[in-house]
Amino acid sequence: MKNVTVVGLGKIGLPLAAIFANCGHFHVLGADINKNVVDKVNQGISHVDNEPGLDELVAKAYQSKTLEATVNTAEAVSKSEIVVVIVPVLTKGNGKINYQYIDSAVEEIGKGIKKGTLVSFETTLPAGDTRNRFGRAIERSSGLTMGVDFFLSYSPERVYSNRIIKDLSSYPKVVSGYNQQSLDLASDFYKKGLNCDILQVSSLEAAEFTKVAECVYRDVNIALANELAIYANKLDVNIMEVIKAANSEPYSNIHLPGIGVGGHCIPVYPYFFINNGLDEGLTTLSRQINDDMAKYAVGLAAEKLGSLKGKRILILGLSFRGNVKEPTKSSTLLLIEALKNKKAEVYVDDPLFEADEISKYGVTPFFSQDNEKIDAIILQAYHDEYKDIDFSAFKNCSLVLDGRNVLDKSEIEKLGMEYIGIGIK
Ligand SMILES: NC(=O)c1ccc[n+]([C@@H]2O[C@H](COP(=O)([O-])OP(=O)(O)OC[C@H]3O[C@@H](n4cnc5c(N)ncnc54)[C@H](O)[C@@H]3O)[C@@H](O)[C@H]2O)c1
Repeated sequence: MKNVTVVGLGKIGLPLAAIFANCGHFHVLGADINKNVVDKVNQGISHVDNEPGLDELVAKAYQSKTLEATVNTAEAVSKSEIVVVIVPVLTKGNGKINYQYIDSAVEEIGKGIKKGTLVSFETTLPAGDTRNRFGRAIERSSGLTMGVDFFLSYSPERVYSNRIIKDLSSYPKVVSGYNQQSLDLASDFYKKGLNCDILQVSSLEAAEFTKVAECVYRDVNIALANELAIYANKLDVNIMEVIKAANSEPYSNIHLPGIGVGGHCIPVYPYFFINNGLDEGLTTLSRQINDDMAKYAVGLAAEKLGSLKGKRILILGLSFRGNVKEPTKSSTLLLIEALKNKKAEVYVDDPLFEADEISKYGVTPFFSQDNEKIDAIILQAYHDEYKDIDFSAFKNCSLVLDGRNVLDKSEIEKLGMEYIGIGIK
C-alpha cells in the first residue's frame, strides 16, 4: 500500500484524506499545523461540520488504521510516495495573495521529500505558481530536480461545501502534470483515490487557469442576471418569469439574480486574472456589478421606506449562502456597510452563528423578543430555518426585501407588508 500525505486537513483536505484512506489503495498521513485538528483526526473524529458522509468516512478510516494525522509535515512526506497540498493561500478582498501558509508547507515538503515522489497541488492558484513558485522551491530546498527526481501535478479542487464527498466522486478530476510522467502518476493516483473520471489538460497552467475561469464564468453570468434584473425592475417585468421562459431554449442559461456574491471563491479568484493583466472588460465589470447589488437593494428599501435613518433593519443570514456557516465576503457585510451609511440600525439573525460571532460585525444580534422593533427585513442567505419563518410575528415591519427571490410574495403581501425581490416588484 502506498503512503499518501495530505498537507492541510481543513474543510477540503480532510474529506480528501478520508476518501483516499477508504479507497483500499492507500495509507494516508494527514499533516496539519493545528494540533487540535490532528488530535481529533487521531481519535477518528472529524472537526468539519455539516459535511454529509464525512464523519462516517473518518471513523471508518480510523478503525481500519488507514488514516493518521501529524503536525510533522516533513516526516510524513519522507514516508510518502504521493503528497497532496491543500493548504489555502490567504487572499484579501482584492485578490492580493498572502502565501505565508502554503510557502511554509512547501518548505516542509522540500525538507522531507524523497526521490520518486509525486507532489500534487490542489489549492486555487494564479497560473504559473505550481511550476514557478512551488516546484522551484521544492527543488531549492531538496536539491532534487523537478520532472526527474520528483514529479509535479496540479489538480484544482472544484467542490462545494456541504456536498464535498458527492462532488469529489461525480465531477471529473481535472489533472495536469509538469511532464508526461507527472501526468501519468497523478492521473493514476486520482483514478484510484477518487474513482472518478479524469480529465487531463496539457499543462499545469491550463489546469490552474481552469479553476479560476470557472469562478469568472459564474461571476460574470451572475452579474449579467443582476443587470437584467435591475433593468426588468425598471420596466416592471418579473425577471424570474423571464428567466424561466428564456431558459426553456437550450442555448439560454441565464443565472439567478441576487443581492450579491459571497464566499471565498467566486468574489475572490477573479482577481487572480484581474491582477495579472485581465484588468479591463467583463471580469472586472462583473465584480463591480455584483458587489454593487447590496447598495442597489438598500436603495430599493429606501425608495419604499423613505429615509432609513434610525430604521431597524433585520438581515436574515450572516453566511454568504444558505445552510453554510461561512461569513467570508458575505453580501451581508456589504449590506451592513450600505445600511450604516444611511444611518439605519442593523440587526442580523443567523441560526448557524452565536450572538458574539454576529456582534463582532458591529451589528445587533437578533433575538425573537425584538420582533416588534423591526421596520424592514432583508433576506440574504436562505437557510432551511427560514423556510417556515412566521413574518406575521413582525408586527411593525412594512417591507420584506427578498434578496434571493425565494419567498412567497402573495403571503407577505397578505400580511399588509410590501414585498420586493431582485427584479421582482
Ligand atoms: N472551502 C471550499 O469551499 C473550497 C472549495 C474549492 C476549493 N477550495 C480550495 O481549498 C483550499 C483549502 O480550503 P479549506 O476550506 O480546506 O481551508 P481551511 O481553512 O478549512 O483548512 C486549511 C487547513 O490547512 C492547515 N494549514 C495551514 N497552514 C499549514 C501548513 N503550513 N502546513 C499544514 N497545514 C496547514 C490549517 O491548519 C487548516 O486546517 C482553498 O484555499 C481553496 O483553494 C476550497
